[in-house]
Amino acid sequence: TVLFGVIGDPIRHSKSPIMLNRAFRERGINGAYAAFHVAPGQLEHAIAGVRGLGFRGLNVTIPHKIEVMSYLDEISEGAKAAGAVNTIVNDNGRLIGYNTDGIGYVRSLKEEAEPNLAGKTIVLLGAGGAARGILWALAQENPASILVANRTESKAAELSASFSPDLRISSIPWSELRDACRAADVVINTTSVGMSPNIDALPIDPSWLKPGSVASDLIYNPLKTAFLQQAELIGCRVHGGLGMFIYQGAYAFEFWTGKSAPVDAMRAVVLESFV
Ligand code: ATR
Repeated sequence: TVLFGVIGDPIRHSKSPIMLNRAFRERGINGAYAAFHVAPGQLEHAIAGVRGLGFRGLNVTIPHKIEVMSYLDEISEGAKAAGAVNTIVNDNGRLIGYNTDGIGYVRSLKEEAEPNLAGKTIVLLGAGGAARGILWALAQENPASILVANRTESKAAELSASFSPDLRISSIPWSELRDACRAADVVINTTSVGMSPNIDALPIDPSWLKPGSVASDLIYNPLKTAFLQQAELIGCRVHGGLGMFIYQGAYAFEFWTGKSAPVDAMRAVVLESFV
């Protein structure tokens, strides 16, 4: 049996074990994937355990995604840009850190809402870890520009300045959001506004969005946020956060096994687990 897992704190509610075990079964792989509670201060021991027990792969979630980078042998370019690792591949004893959140988000956005991001104008709301996690992957698609706006404007300026200028990521003041949204092809909410239990809260006035444009939210609880519901009413194409979770797992599966991920089966089993 090939061993896999996810570490985090808290970890009880993780849907990764049901999703990845379903994927292994679907593809006929003799793998076992379990969730492990790793408290702060135990992370280095946990990674030593991965080496000692010969795990093939590990997912890493909050609060360990940043610190774990110091215990690995190699970090991918995307993970360096995101400043976080969520997927580890054990390549014959060499631990390589990747970030599949950003590329998983982009694959989901392309599959489910907008296949071609090249030349598009993207507005991104928020400047926290979730924003950093997807910016590099978005920039790989060659959009015309990515405009970052945040309630605390200095954080948006700092975040955008941390990327190379040729990625065309810049920040705008919150007061310019209305006009920026009117002109945008894709508006992405990476803030926590609208997340359960505050499900009626809105990050921006949805009437600023252009009909036909894409409204995307990284939040997947609720599956369709108030922001997306109202965007849909004015004629936007909407994209929720569940796909990001499914595709970050799909990429992890593909990096570990070299086989294509059974995305539909993975999505179905996660959706079943919500009821
Ligand atoms: P994460 O890692 O999930 O991105 P985070 O680093 O705490 O979490 O970032 C949360 C983001 O949501 C930030 O951009 C935050 O804005 P500030 O930097 O101004 O705090 C944003 N956010 C949270 N509550 C908000 C609110 N009520 N209105 C606007 N933005 C909000």
